[in-house]
Amino acid sequence: MAMCILVFLTLLILPSSHSSSDELYIDKSAKIPQSDLDLLEFPLNLEYFEAEFFLYGALGYGLDKAAPKLTGGGPTPLGAKKANLDPFTRDVVLQFAFQEVGHLRAIKNTVKGFPRPLLNLSSETFAKTLDKAFGKPLNPPFDPYSSSLNYLIASYLIPYVGLTGYVGANEKLENPVSRRLVAGLLGVESGQDAVIRALLYEKATQKVPPYGITVAEFTNKISSLRNELGHTGLKDEGLIVPNSDGAEGKIAGNVLAGDQDSVAYARTPEEILRIVYGSADEGVPGGFYPKGGDGRIARSHLKSA
Ligand SMILES: *[C@@H]1O[C@H](CO)[C@@H](O)[C@H](O)[C@H]1NC(C)=O
Repeated sequence: MAMCILVFLTLLILPSSHSSSDELYIDKSAKIPQSDLDLLEFPLNLEYFEAEFFLYGALGYGLDKAAPKLTGGGPTPLGAKKANLDPFTRDVVLQFAFQEVGHLRAIKNTVKGFPRPLLNLSSETFAKTLDKAFGKPLNPPFDPYSSSLNYLIASYLIPYVGLTGYVGANEKLENPVSRRLVAGLLGVESGQDAVIRALLYEKATQKVPPYGITVAEFTNKISSLRNELGHTGLKDEGLIVPNSDGAEGKIAGNVLAGDQDSVAYARTPEEILRIVYGSADEGVPGGFYPKGGDGRIARSHLKSA
C-alpha cells in the first residue's frame, strides 16, 4: 500500500520536475493573436524542406519513417535520396536532420500548422536552380546527392533563407511566447548556417569537380540569385565578397553574412516564397514547391487558389 502511494506520488511529481524544457509552452492558452499564428506557421514550409532534405541525405528516408505524425498526412517528397556523404559530413547532417524534427514539433506544439506540402527534392530541381544561378546549364547537371561537397553546396541554399525569415518575423510578433519560439528557432538555424558556411569556407578556393568553378563562386552565384529572386536588394552574400561588403568594409572573407553593421538580414514571407519557388513571384509556385507553400500567408498569394 505504502509502495502504491509512493508510486502514485512519484507519478504526480515527475512531470513537473522536468518541466523546464516545456516552459516555452506553458502559456499556450494565452492569447496569441492571429497575425502571430500566421507568422509562426509560415516557417513550417521551410522546416519541412530542411527536415526531409537532411533526413533523406543522411538516412535515405524522411519524416514518413522518422516522425510520421509530424507530416500531418502530407505527400511524400519527390526525388529525395540518401547522399554519398563521408562519415563526418553525414554525422553533421544527421544532427541537423533531428534538429529539424524538433523544430517542426516546437512549431506544431504552439500553432496548429498544416500538413507537409508537396516538395520536389529531385536532383533536377537543384540542377535547375544552379543553372539559373550560373545563367547557363552546368555540364554535367549539378547533383546534390553525389558527394559531400555537392551536398553542402545544396545545403547552403536552405537554412539561410529560414534564418532571414525568422529575423524578419521577430519584429512583427506581439506575444512573448511567439517571440521566444522564434528566437529559439533562429538561434539554431543560424548555427546550422554557420556550420555549413564554415565547412564550405575551408574549401572556398578549391574547385568543385568536374566544373572547374570554385566553391566561393558557387556560393556567390547562389546568393546573387536569391537577391535577384527576392527583388529587395542585397540581403545575401557568398563566401568571398568585395572588401566593401565584408565586415566593416575591410575584408573579403565572409564566413558569415551580415549588413554594414554585421547584423543579420531580414526577409518577409513574400520574399522567401519568391526565392524558394524560384519564380520571383510569391503567386507563382514552382521549384521545390510544385503546388506552393501552405498556411494562410502562402495560400493568400496563390493565384490559382
Ligand atoms: C521535379 O522537378 C523537376 C525539375 O523541375 C522536374 O523535371 C520533375 O518533373 C519534377 N518531378 C515531378 C514528379 O513533378
